[in-house]
Amino acid sequence: MKVPFLDLKAQYASIKDEIAIALQQVLDNTAFAGGPFVEKFEKDFALFCQCEHAIGVGNGTAALWAALLSLGVGPGDEVITAPNTFIATAEAISFCGAKPVFIDVNEQTYNLNPILLEDAITPKTKAIIPVQLFGQMADMDSIIEVARAHGLFVIEDACQAHGAEYKGRRAGSIGDVGCFSFYPGKNLGAYGEAGAVVTNNAELADKIRMFRDHGQKKKYYHSMIGWNARMDGFQGAVLSVKLKYLAEWNEARRKNAQLYNSFLADVDDVITPMEADYAKHVYHIYAICTKNRDELINALAEKDIFCGIHYPVPIHLQEAYKFLGNKKGSFPVAERCAEEFVSLPMFAELSQEQIQKVCHKIKCFLEVRV
Ligand SMILES: Cc1ncc(COP(=O)(O)O)c(C=O)c1O
Repeated sequence: MKVPFLDLKAQYASIKDEIAIALQQVLDNTAFAGGPFVEKFEKDFALFCQCEHAIGVGNGTAALWAALLSLGVGPGDEVITAPNTFIATAEAISFCGAKPVFIDVNEQTYNLNPILLEDAITPKTKAIIPVQLFGQMADMDSIIEVARAHGLFVIEDACQAHGAEYKGRRAGSIGDVGCFSFYPGKNLGAYGEAGAVVTNNAELADKIRMFRDHGQKKKYYHSMIGWNARMDGFQGAVLSVKLKYLAEWNEARRKNAQLYNSFLADVDDVITPMEADYAKHVYHIYAICTKNRDELINALAEKDIFCGIHYPVPIHLQEAYKFLGNKKGSFPVAERCAEEFVSLPMFAELSQEQIQKVCHKIKCFLEVRV
């Protein structure tokens, strides 16, 4: 029995007919760039995120970039974020001409550690980007308290957290603005590239809507310099179909996570992910920590079990960000994550049998080593 890291085909099989109808409607209406299918999804997704506005864009990186630019982040500014994220979080900051400033993360949730915020704030700091890593929210109340005290914006990088909750409030709805990716492997994944920005700020929503469409409200009348960051019609139609199932798929992921937690509870050298009291985790990624990471991944692959690493190199140690001058040892928790994380297979359709196989092989491998 093979256990893939992710099985997009299984999910597609369950909604194939609905998807075919939705795609056909886009073709019949030739509504390829923006248009009614994107608008319908925006309405549905805003509601899902408990927000007034959702703006569909081309991908999650563009969502972050549009949000930062529209909040006025630019050259000379600093934006605080976590080093253990996908590089897009930092790239979006850099592409505004601003500087990413990293702080370390909480040892249990692996999310931005609010205790470290004050020391990182300078007169140049303009915003904070908590990354809702792996589908779990950061400690938003503490982050927002510091942000408000210093007049900083909070931009949620919710690219991995569709439907995650903080004290009953949905990801994306808590900061000034929330950014999502619908990359195909996400909990809510498009059939191509797509992203969205959500906010309760009408003025900001207007700016982002204009930014994604060359700074125009009326065709060929450009009141600001914008970009082409539109969502395409096929993605809007696919996402509207899939959004109806997101809560159910997230529940299945949570059930799978509980199975993993119980089967791995007594295994030495395995730390399973914790769900914070305030959080509803949606397990985009189910990552365990182990000191024998690389050997374990190889041993599992030999048994047809496929894992991932999110992420093998923290951003401050990436070649691209060497120029910031951060050294190894600057952010010990994030660095330990990079050395010890193994992302186990996780998707809604994963069977109990498959989870048992993964856990059994992990136990066999690690028990031989102690
Ligand atoms: C935390 C995080 N931020 C940003 C992005 C960028 O999203 P996209 O790949 O849609 O541009 C991703 C996507 O992987 C992500 O996981």
